Amino acid sequence: MIDQLYRKAVLTVSGQKPVESLVRSRGWGVAQRFVAGEDATSAIRAVQDLHKDGILGNLDLLGEFVTSPDTANEFAAKVLGLLNDAHAAGLKPYVSVKLSSIGQGMTTPEGEDLGLSNARRIVARAKGYGGFVCLDMEDHPRVDVTLAQFRTLVGEFGHEHVGTVLQSYLYRSEGDWADLQDLKPNLRIVKGAYLEPETVAMPDKADVDAAYRRLVYAQMKAGSYVNVATHDEGIIADVEHFALAHGIAREAFEFQMLYGIRRDLQKDLAARGYRVRAYIPYGRDWYPYFSRRIAERPANVMFVLRGMLRG
Ligand code: FDA
Repeated sequence: MIDQLYRKAVLTVSGQKPVESLVRSRGWGVAQRFVAGEDATSAIRAVQDLHKDGILGNLDLLGEFVTSPDTANEFAAKVLGLLNDAHAAGLKPYVSVKLSSIGQGMTTPEGEDLGLSNARRIVARAKGYGGFVCLDMEDHPRVDVTLAQFRTLVGEFGHEHVGTVLQSYLYRSEGDWADLQDLKPNLRIVKGAYLEPETVAMPDKADVDAAYRRLVYAQMKAGSYVNVATHDEGIIADVEHFALAHGIAREAFEFQMLYGIRRDLQKDLAARGYRVRAYIPYGRDWYPYFSRRIAERPANVMFVLRGMLRG
């Protein structure tokens, strides 16, 4: 409950325009702990650096909730460019995309959802390079449409090239998991990072953690690929035990963590033979992503304040 109140307070304050302007103008130095740089070159360099420790990368061009079709199309073009750059650098591109950044909720001249239309181009390009696209999950009003678009894309490209995310804090997620089973979906399980009302999201961390374990175990038992996206050492240890006890092969799942958070744990898991992937955000629109990271941990507020006062 305290965690929830803290998160709510930080996300509410960070949503105020004066706070946003101040942090945007003075906070880039501290944001670089969580953001790999402003351009694709820096992000690709970060992936190559992680490879030295046996860690894989998941590239994410930052941006969300765009308000015009032109901006959405420009954003999609940048993601397509990122795929080209990653391929040219010898990587099998693995990217994450927020459908709100590429036009979800807007309509193409042909009458299709612009987000779906752009996602189709992105997944097709990634598939051509032997890569993968994960559709990030955003705030709860977008869940229905994101899952429906995920279903369409899996139908067109296969679950080897497109996945999505379920958030364990939402009451609905276990039902969504069951509804997706005919797809043998590739799913990333997260706790959830948005400011959500108690009517849709569990307020108590213990419930969120318990639902998290249930979702991961169900996905493993169903024999579908699962991306265990958390820094929670208790959950990670339990997942390791569960996999061992149920004969789940190490190729059937991976651990995912965020760039700049618990690199020690990422390295340790990779050294012990687990597949580990770091989520590497980059780009100029870093503020909303950065705010969510600060909201996850009280110590991060002091880190930001100290960094901004120094800078
Ligand atoms: P929890 O918050 O319980 O933290 C466990 C421990 O991890 C903490 O005690 C601390 O040590 C460490 N930790 C966690 N966050 C930290 C931080 N910001 N700074 C420093 N230490 C930290 N969410 C979403 O809604 N949609 C999405 O698509 C995604 N995608 C995604 C991808 C990947 C690869 C990850 C790892 C996470 C996401 N998330 C997400 C975010 C997710 O919902 C959640 O907010 C964070 O992962 C933090 O929760 P934990 O599971 O780490 O547990």
